[in-house]
Amino acid sequence: MADLRTTLVGHTFRNPLWLASGIWGESGNSLKGAWEAGAGGVVTKSIGSQPRMGYPNPTVVTYEKWGMLNAMGLPNPGIEEYPQEIGIARSAGAAVIGSVFGADAEEFAQLAARMAATGVLALELNLSCPHAKGLGSGIGQDPDQVREVVRAVKRAVKIPVIAKITPNHYDVASLAQAAESAGADAISAINTVRALAIDVRLRRPVLAHGLGGLSGPAIKPIGLACVWQIYERVRIPIIGIGGIEHADDVIEYVLAGARAVQLGTAVAFRGIGIFSGLAKELSERLDALKVHRLEEIVGGAHTTATPQ
Ligand code: SIN
Repeated sequence: MADLRTTLVGHTFRNPLWLASGIWGESGNSLKGAWEAGAGGVVTKSIGSQPRMGYPNPTVVTYEKWGMLNAMGLPNPGIEEYPQEIGIARSAGAAVIGSVFGADAEEFAQLAARMAATGVLALELNLSCPHAKGLGSGIGQDPDQVREVVRAVKRAVKIPVIAKITPNHYDVASLAQAAESAGADAISAINTVRALAIDVRLRRPVLAHGLGGLSGPAIKPIGLACVWQIYERVRIPIIGIGGIEHADDVIEYVLAGARAVQLGTAVAFRGIGIFSGLAKELSERLDALKVHRLEEIVGGAHTTATPQ
């Protein structure tokens, strides 16, 4: 059977299939459940300084084939309450990555230090939520602010720092380069793509917030292009996100340059059973392709093609 282990951010993960932030990871038990179901790593819901209710309903629109549109508004219990949840997941042996969001470098650094103190193995900085004013991509679309946030967080913590990058920018790789230049240890790409659904009868947006973020199969080609472009411009590892459901989706992301991937919408639609099923499917597919170790083929498509 092909070896699915992958090493990044100073840790060898048992497989490259991580639970993405925000889908299943709000409570310690849900993180634990995803780990026990076979995820290679689990990323928490993005946590802020204070508890936050998020936006009123409706917050989600689902599309049968393409995926999901959401604007939850970063609901979370706040950093004060969250360490006990991480404790539950860690006591099950889970490889936990703590996601945080803030309004500026100082808030990110304070939160990062508190999240690091919970014993997570790495941090993921949410620089990419596409619709929360002054947060997420409100900061993460500006390379200077990305640099400032990552630099402040790196000064505040000793654990590895992953910058989660928005696709809603004309030069996504420049955001990754800014994060790398400030000391980021890895890049997650991508978060959701800004999008909208309109109710024709009511003549208004379906989501209470109006704009939302699109995820799922529809955005896989966008995620792949971003990972591809980032791989050409940074040396730190990349974690691919966007529309991953099947073994070939994972392999495409790895060939584009990812060392691991995150699953979000597929978990929302199919449940956490997807992790063990996909790991098996991935091993079998790699065997059929005569690939012995997943890590052998990271960035492999760059050596055989010359895209524009
Ligand atoms: C949300 O809570 O609205 C989504 C978070 C994100 O896209 O990062």
